[in-house]
Amino acid sequence: MTMMTGFLMDEVPLGIPDRWPAYGLGEREALRLVGDVARAHSAPLGDPDVLAHMDPPTPIIASELVGLNASLNQNLLHSDLSPFASRAEHLIIAWLAPFFGMIEGHMCAGSTIANLTALWCAREHGATRVVASTDAHLSIFKAAHILGMPFEAVPVDHMGRLERSKLPCLDHAAIVLTAGTTGRGVIDNLDVVDGVWLHVDAAWAGPLRLTKYASRLDGVERANSVAVSAHKWLFQPKESALILFKEQEAQTAISYGGPYLSASNIGVQGSRGAAAVALLGTCLAWGREGLAERIERCVALSEALAERLSSNPNVTLRQPPESAVVNWRPRTRRVDPVLLALGRTASRTAIDGEVWIRNVAANPHADLNAVWHQIEKSLSVGFEGPTAG
Ligand SMILES: Cc1ncc(COP(=O)(O)O)c(C=O)c1O
Repeated sequence: MTMMTGFLMDEVPLGIPDRWPAYGLGEREALRLVGDVARAHSAPLGDPDVLAHMDPPTPIIASELVGLNASLNQNLLHSDLSPFASRAEHLIIAWLAPFFGMIEGHMCAGSTIANLTALWCAREHGATRVVASTDAHLSIFKAAHILGMPFEAVPVDHMGRLERSKLPCLDHAAIVLTAGTTGRGVIDNLDVVDGVWLHVDAAWAGPLRLTKYASRLDGVERANSVAVSAHKWLFQPKESALILFKEQEAQTAISYGGPYLSASNIGVQGSRGAAAVALLGTCLAWGREGLAERIERCVALSEALAERLSSNPNVTLRQPPESAVVNWRPRTRRVDPVLLALGRTASRTAIDGEVWIRNVAANPHADLNAVWHQIEKSLSVGFEGPTAG
């Protein structure tokens, strides 16, 4: 086994010893040291100029409740040992599932697991292969591989939407449509009804369903299952996601009993923490309107940014944002130096073999002028000739 000591020494010269000390510092001192280092060396996701990835800043209510969860250490595997946490999960599923036309489900550590769970369930219901667009998230390919199901990729159109006319025969297929592709935030046309199983990967854009933009996900209610990452646009700390099902008994196919269990173990994970408690607290603190308002603020910000970009002669906007993901590139400068100058305030993606800068409005505290200031600064450096790429 390779020890990763090099990483700590090379990248984080922080006063943390590179070898595990034989004798401890004591909890108070270790807390101070690790806490200080973590605070000083973490990306500030809530800063006004940060629109980089699909990772929002988390509200105090959620981080406080995650701390409480950790100290109570409830295990959702045993509902008898986690009476409130299990109840909180039922409640949160009951509150959120109907927005997607679903009726049951459970929480898991992320949409990678939610997608795996959905496709596992699809396989138990007769699907033998997985069909999704070339822009589907890599977790779909991974899940198909883990489950031993052949994967078929369908081309996307110019906007990045699965091309309906290129769909293969869907006999025995689990078809996966994406609501909010990772690279471009595009929402596939969700009204496909063929195939044994329809799964909607709404990891990113699912929460739009709770806002005035709900109709962008029309058709989602036809799905057999829907994945939503709560640690994306529901503003939760990781690891928090929902896998939702349309049929009452769908999860029975992915449930296992054991002699030491008082209730069946549903889904991929065994022991798991009480992510629902933090989500419930957040939903109570903000109410439906408060949550919708934060997401809508992100959408408005992305649209205002896209407008500024499209009226700037020095940049090309790839396409209007559909779920607050904005892709652009400099017209006459190389992309890489601009990306470098943008640092933590933006990310990158590839579209049709070309590099594009990607801004994701997951941060409701972002300020358009602060974001724009970074973009203008980045465009004034790194001129290396007219090749974009
Ligand atoms: C469309 C989509 N699906 C699935 C995932 C995986 O989600 P997670 O990172 O919560 O495992 C992502 C992550 O960005 C995503 O964008």
